[in-house]
Amino acid sequence: MQVTIGKQVRQAAVTGALGTANERLHAEACRYIPGGTSRLHYYYHPYPIYARSGQGCYVTDVEGVERLDFLNNMTALIHGHGNAAIKQAIVEQLERGTAFSEPSEPEVRLAKLLVERVPAVEQIRFANSGTEAVMMAIKLARAYTSRSKIAKFEGFYHGYYDYAQVSYASTPADWGPAEAPASTASSGGLADSVVDDVLALPYNDQDAVERLLEAHGHELAALIVDPLSNRAGFPLPAPGFVPFLREIARRNGIVLIYDEVISFRIGYHGAQGKYGGEPDLTTFGKIIGGGLPVGAVGGRGEIMALLDPRERAPAVASGGTYSANPLTMAAGLAALEQLTPEEFERLERLGRRLRERGTAAFAAAGVPGQLTGDGSLFRILSTAEPVADYRRSLPAPGHEGQMARLHLRLLEEGVIVSRDGLGCISTPMGEAEVDRFVSALERGLGASSAGG
Ligand SMILES: Cc1ncc(COP(=O)(O)O)c(C=O)c1O
Repeated sequence: MQVTIGKQVRQAAVTGALGTANERLHAEACRYIPGGTSRLHYYYHPYPIYARSGQGCYVTDVEGVERLDFLNNMTALIHGHGNAAIKQAIVEQLERGTAFSEPSEPEVRLAKLLVERVPAVEQIRFANSGTEAVMMAIKLARAYTSRSKIAKFEGFYHGYYDYAQVSYASTPADWGPAEAPASTASSGGLADSVVDDVLALPYNDQDAVERLLEAHGHELAALIVDPLSNRAGFPLPAPGFVPFLREIARRNGIVLIYDEVISFRIGYHGAQGKYGGEPDLTTFGKIIGGGLPVGAVGGRGEIMALLDPRERAPAVASGGTYSANPLTMAAGLAALEQLTPEEFERLERLGRRLRERGTAAFAAAGVPGQLTGDGSLFRILSTAEPVADYRRSLPAPGHEGQMARLHLRLLEEGVIVSRDGLGCISTPMGEAEVDRFVSALERGLGASSAGG
């Protein structure tokens, strides 16, 4: 069921008209919550739409405006909203209890499914968010290697653990040479020692990475990489780059961590099933919780054993009052059980159609831009140049505000993506929804190139 799309948002978000329910809620929120938001992503200028409900691939806001949801809680809801099997699993678990001091069976079932699905994961441990998973993986790597520094790629986002907040939002003013990026604090509140303990690397530049790792490898506990990094514009790994990372990490005794918090949704065995690389540890989040808060670390038994409390106090201590809570575990299991190899192939075909047609829409409009990504993931970029790394994913000169304008235009057209152009396909979608997205993009680009 669909109601008028977007017109109120044109008034509210574009002209800033007073009195809409979204604007009133945001004004009220600002009195109690800094900037009105508990999550950086929620906010965009002048104020966000507030969700009231979601069903399938639609979200209805507090003004009753329904939009096609191509964001799905930042890619976490691979089945969209109100999936029947997930709802049933949650309700059944709700009847039994929401959380206990004791472990429960759904945790064992979800762990088994993930271990069976991802060959590099011999054991797994659950947490409440991707951020926590990354934190746990880095601590495991440190305990395993008795080293403390880590290496990460410039422009790659891995959540908001201190060490992950280095060099994910570098700018030309502070990023240093391309072949040896500066380590920069991407958030206030980081100790200087944290920034000093992180080596920033240029993605897809094998020679530079080799030079940097040969020089610093002996002090590095971990090399963390997202095989398909949203924040860096979804650069695909260059041929040979992934096996190279595996080999150089091994040669230098560095734990190779794949952060698949987002990229696990691109294939039945995750991004590692597609690109290879045999990571020592993998971090998960988003889709494995079926729409409830989740994170997990899995990997080689020898490293995961550092969490084992059976014989002595574990080398790495971790807890979390809600870690592996049975509601999340039951929802995650119901979500993953529906994701067959055939369904991943269908999502991949839809994703390819959307990216190809979306990129063609930019060319037709004469606006610099393209849609990057893989599988069910896409990112709208404001540059037409091939994207190999973070720096090359940034807007073409003079087009810095293009995506923010397009984001609001797409909201008016009844389509939700993130304000920086992240989007994804969910299983309730088919070609009709993809084509509606492309039409909305075409109209949005027409409007924004006409002076938006
Ligand atoms: C690649 C990646 N790693 C880690 C995280 C952090 O996950 P969470 O937001 O669940 O803490 C995110 C979040 O978007 C992410 O994209």
